[in-house]
Amino acid sequence: MNSLTLVCMLALVLQNVAASACPDLLAPKVMIVNFFNPEGMVWYSNPDYDLLAQNVSVSGLSPPLRNTVPLFGDIHCTADGEVCQLVTGRSEINTALSSLALAFSDKFNLTQTYFLLNGIAGINPYIGSINSVTFARFAVQADMQYDIDGRELPSNFSTGLWALSTDAPGQFPSAFMGTEVFELNDNLRRKMAAIAATANLSDTVTAAAVRAQWKGTAGAAEPSVILTDTVTTNTYWTGELLAESIGAYTSLVTNGTAVYGTTQNNDNAALEGFLRGAVAKKLDFGRIILMRTASDYDRPPPGESILDNLLYVDDGAFTSSLENLVNVGVLIIKDILTNWASTYEIGIKADNYMGDVMGTLGGTPDFGPGPA
Ligand SMILES: *[C@@H]1O[C@H](CO)[C@@H](O)[C@H](O)[C@H]1NC(C)=O
Ligand SMILES: *[C@@H]1O[C@H](CO)[C@@H](O)[C@H](O)[C@H]1NC(C)=O
Ligand SMILES: *[C@@H]1O[C@H](CO)[C@@H](O)[C@H](O)[C@H]1NC(C)=O
Ligand SMILES: *[C@@H]1O[C@H](CO)[C@@H](O)[C@H](O)[C@H]1NC(C)=O
Ligand SMILES: *[C@@H]1O[C@H](CO)[C@@H](O)[C@H](O)[C@H]1NC(C)=O
Repeated sequence: MNSLTLVCMLALVLQNVAASACPDLLAPKVMIVNFFNPEGMVWYSNPDYDLLAQNVSVSGLSPPLRNTVPLFGDIHCTADGEVCQLVTGRSEINTALSSLALAFSDKFNLTQTYFLLNGIAGINPYIGSINSVTFARFAVQADMQYDIDGRELPSNFSTGLWALSTDAPGQFPSAFMGTEVFELNDNLRRKMAAIAATANLSDTVTAAAVRAQWKGTAGAAEPSVILTDTVTTNTYWTGELLAESIGAYTSLVTNGTAVYGTTQNNDNAALEGFLRGAVAKKLDFGRIILMRTASDYDRPPPGESILDNLLYVDDGAFTSSLENLVNVGVLIIKDILTNWASTYEIGIKADNYMGDVMGTLGGTPDFGPGPA
């Protein structure tokens, strides 16, 4: 009998429950977190890890979508249970609830699990290029703000999107709700970026031609590994003006520290779910890796209309950015499994603050309102 089973049985005896009801807890070393079907599916053609060897039904996950493979509803794991996968479902609500459901599931012991947030994203062309791979330290939720349509914008306002509890763009908020900013383990992030640098990244001829349109900016560079931050919104926004506004908000709420490089619909939601799990001692917030691969730019290149960019022009990087989730992801998983006993089991010590803007996990955030 291993110690896990012993602890479990003791708990059951104390609660006067039959020992035969004692579940075998899975304790994955890595939990891949994808957000929609294409990100989940791209893992199933990878020969290294057969994630469909075990399906573990967990209450509270997103229900299966109509007309798609029924991926949601189960956590998928390799036969040995060392590597598992959550597909949260799209947008902040699905992501938050699925992450919370996993964190509190009684089928897993996640106390030492590394969470690999693994999704595609839009990229800021002043920070990087499509088919690049990014790792975030800060995640900023940019849609919990005041919002006035541009057609009704007061003439003295520089943007219609500005911080709650303030009178105008640029003012520091007097109130935070708790999900606006998360900061992650920077030492772990840098280690992961070094591993990612050894990957061969998928790329396409079309994507290279699109990159060339960003001549003179970081958006024109060959795909690479980039340390940058990320912004979360439910809306699929695009354009130079929203990018400026969201960039300014990112800087404002992180006291000038974060610069957003990628845009997506999930990360603050997942991080709030996992933060609550960490509060309940279900998981270690210092073991979260936020990796995003770039599939498109967050604004049109010079000379292209905003609608063409959003709806009609194919950047040629959707499939390749999905492949890069796996190209890089497998190297990270291999490193964690191979060096588990020597390095990862005990954890990668952080030197920076980790957690939310409220200091919920302890410590003092180096951003936001600071100590009360
Ligand atoms: C979870 O795993 C940790 C590390 O192996 C162990 O110390 C702990 O007792 C386990 N918890 C449960 C509930 O099995
Ligand atoms: C797990 O679920 C997938 C479909 O989501 C299925 O293809 C696979 O066969 C299932 N695995 C097992 C072991 O039942
Ligand atoms: C904009 O104009 C309104 C109405 O005159 C005024 O109340 C407000 O303070 C001004 N805001 C800024 C940011 O200048
Ligand atoms: C990258 O490609 C080169 C050349 O094909 C190969 O030798 C190397 O093993 C590949 N690296 C990885 C991590 O797959
Ligand atoms: C962040 O900036 C605001 C506004 O200037 C300030 O009130 C707050 O104390 C700063 N936070 C930290 C942690 O320094």
